[in-house]
Amino acid sequence: MRRVRRRCGARRRALGRRRRLTHLATLYHDDVMDEADVRRGAPSANSRWGNSVAILVGDYLFAQASDLVSDLGTEAVRIQARTFSRLVQGQIRETIGPADGEDALAHYLAVVADKTGSLIATAALFGAKMAGASAEIQSTLTEFGERIGAAFQLADDIIDVASETGDSGKTPGTDLREGVPTLPTLIAQRSTAPEDARLLDLLSRPLTDDAEHAEALTLLRVHPAMDEARSYVQAEADAASALLAKLPDSSAREALQVLCDTVATRLG
Ligand code: IPE
Ligand code: MG
Ligand code: MG
Repeated sequence: MRRVRRRCGARRRALGRRRRLTHLATLYHDDVMDEADVRRGAPSANSRWGNSVAILVGDYLFAQASDLVSDLGTEAVRIQARTFSRLVQGQIRETIGPADGEDALAHYLAVVADKTGSLIATAALFGAKMAGASAEIQSTLTEFGERIGAAFQLADDIIDVASETGDSGKTPGTDLREGVPTLPTLIAQRSTAPEDARLLDLLSRPLTDDAEHAEALTLLRVHPAMDEARSYVQAEADAASALLAKLPDSSAREALQVLCDTVATRLG
């Protein structure tokens, strides 16, 4: 019995390391794509060692994560591979942008689901499997992870606009600089009000000029699109939280509820 418990503990720790390694690897690659200088309040890997080293170390971390998962059996390896595949497809689609005639908001939401919802859905699924949960609970937790993961990313994109330098450990306005559309910009771009003409002009292209970048951030921060985007995230966090009602009352369920509350309150 004790041996079984020890084995389960080791498997759970391996899965925790898998998630952290996969996440970190995506961030190494993402900071290259976004030309980001700062991550978690420190110089990003690409700014310290250059793009090639950052990409190769990201690959190395993915390999380490796969190695850990291989001890857990074929099904776990398949889940990890499919998750990684979805995540990368999300990053590719974000880079390419919507196809001709594709709705930009629908494209963005699909990107968010693929690049972030996928990762958190799998973390929740592996947790449920490790706990020996029923197929029904596994599926509820996967859906929960998908929704709260997407809500987290939507919130993160709002924080990219709203935060002051230093608050998030990243450089604010990175998405604007790179011309990556996010929830607040997509909502603002629906406006037909004449007073929004300057903002819409700025949002229509990457903003490499520092003065224009600062101007766009200032205009966007006070635009009603910010509150509309916050309400959207709150509704998504509420939808994730509603799924928790299907789970048995437990300290794990309470912790997941706190996660829902934190995603929304992070927006201030
Ligand atoms: C992060 O994407 C990487 C993945 C989710 C795969 P973003 O570019 O949107 O996130 P930050 O703002 O750099 O953390
Ligand atoms: Mg980024
Ligand atoms: Mg990115």
